[in-house]
Amino acid sequence: MIPLTLAQIAEITGGQLHGDPSAVVTGEVVIDSRRAGRGGLFAAVAGERADGHDFASAAVAAGAVAVLATRPVPVPSVLVTDVPAALAALARFVIDALPAAAIAGITGSSGKTTTKDLTAQLVERLGPTIAPAGSFNNEFGHPLTVLRADAATRYLILELSARGPGHIAHLCRVAPPRYGVVLNVGHAHAGEFGGLDQVARAKGELVEALPADGVAILNADDPRVLAMAARAAARVVTFGLDDRTAQIRAAEIRAAGVRLDELGRPSFTLLTPEGQAGVTLRLHGAHSVPDAVAAAALARELGMGLADIADGLCAAVARSRWRMEVRRREDGVTVVNDAYNANPESVRAALDALRHLAQDGRGFAILGHMAELGDTSRASHEDIGEFAAQSELAGLIAVGEEAEPILAGARRVRSWTGEALAVPDGTAALDALANQLKPGDVVLVKASRAAHLEGVAAVLAGEEADR
Ligand SMILES: Nc1ncnc2c1ncn2[C@@H]1O[C@H](COP(=O)(O)OP(=O)(O)OP(=O)(O)O)[C@@H](O)[C@H]1O
Ligand SMILES: [Mg+2]
Repeated sequence: MIPLTLAQIAEITGGQLHGDPSAVVTGEVVIDSRRAGRGGLFAAVAGERADGHDFASAAVAAGAVAVLATRPVPVPSVLVTDVPAALAALARFVIDALPAAAIAGITGSSGKTTTKDLTAQLVERLGPTIAPAGSFNNEFGHPLTVLRADAATRYLILELSARGPGHIAHLCRVAPPRYGVVLNVGHAHAGEFGGLDQVARAKGELVEALPADGVAILNADDPRVLAMAARAAARVVTFGLDDRTAQIRAAEIRAAGVRLDELGRPSFTLLTPEGQAGVTLRLHGAHSVPDAVAAAALARELGMGLADIADGLCAAVARSRWRMEVRRREDGVTVVNDAYNANPESVRAALDALRHLAQDGRGFAILGHMAELGDTSRASHEDIGEFAAQSELAGLIAVGEEAEPILAGARRVRSWTGEALAVPDGTAALDALANQLKPGDVVLVKASRAAHLEGVAAVLAGEEADR
């Protein structure tokens, strides 16, 4: 955070100052009052369950210098009409004050956080890097991340999400990226957009925002992403998997010879114009390979050499939780906690990984529903069930009413001999599996964020006694 006086904050946001104009904010800007600390600024937001304004005094007691608020609070404050707009204005001010920082934006339907975490672990080796924790990728998380930057910052690696047209364009105005990565166009939030072409329109706003001296890093294996090249003033660099693209046009940065170890960790050869290098990831699942190759392509553009990229990818760990966490229990049962979120592409990717992990045992999937799919929701759930049954699972447990169409889809596969079960909640899913699991079995837990199935996975993995 670059130090800002309350007078400056009021001026930048067009807000009304209540307090000492010369008081200086030097600490983090937060929207969670429990994270408010010495010298920071607390932005009060009215959420679904709680109103941040009720915690204004607590935040100041915890050390915050002032509160950014939309209604009067009994502590030093800057009153604005719109907190996200105020955060955006502050973030833009910080960006303009730090012209030496290279800004990269990463978008796509799946894998943004994974790619952002991998890239951050690479470029941290080159210099001070700011990247969000977890999925700070919307009109709150994005500016809050940008606001952490200061004069020492060399790289800003930002995650950009869209729930509608114009969202990514807005984030790109707040922190104009010179580097942009588009991973894929999938069904996440497709219901809100109205279809995949609309999703592509929105994700491509990142490509359109890049300047002529910028770089668009595009997935050559996704036709909707590759087509975004036509919308770029920036130079285009492609990435992909060798076996998929070789037929058409090989991507410039690509992975060849992908294979998985017994825990689903991929090894591959990274091919670049400068040569090739072997990589073994600590992440699980073949779907992390395109994310890793995208991170490599971005780090390369930021000036990193091939040997350092390969070394960094081999060392990089999963920084954000509940994405393909694989735990082998003492009794030989393996639990895959991928409960962070779910959409059709990421569930298929997880089921592929499950099938690989369960080669010598039985595979079970505890699946909750996939949110925000709109009109195609029912059909998408049925298709996932069919895919799961084709993966020859021993058991498929659908949690909650909205997930039940998964079972209808599974029953379409006549040859499937596994067990299908509908349960109302996570506890019932745990009960259903209790005493059933044997050494060599693998259980996948996955659902949209709203289902909160990570607790189920934690209990199964023996991480928590009960929940
Ligand atoms: N390239 C990919 N293709 C399909 N699934 C993927 C890919 N990369 C990651 N995933 C899976 O998608 C889920 C979300 O991963 P991640 O958190 O990296 O994505 P995200 O785009 O940041 O998601 P969100 O929109 O929720 O922030 C995880 O289950 C992960 O295993
Ligand atoms: Mg994310």
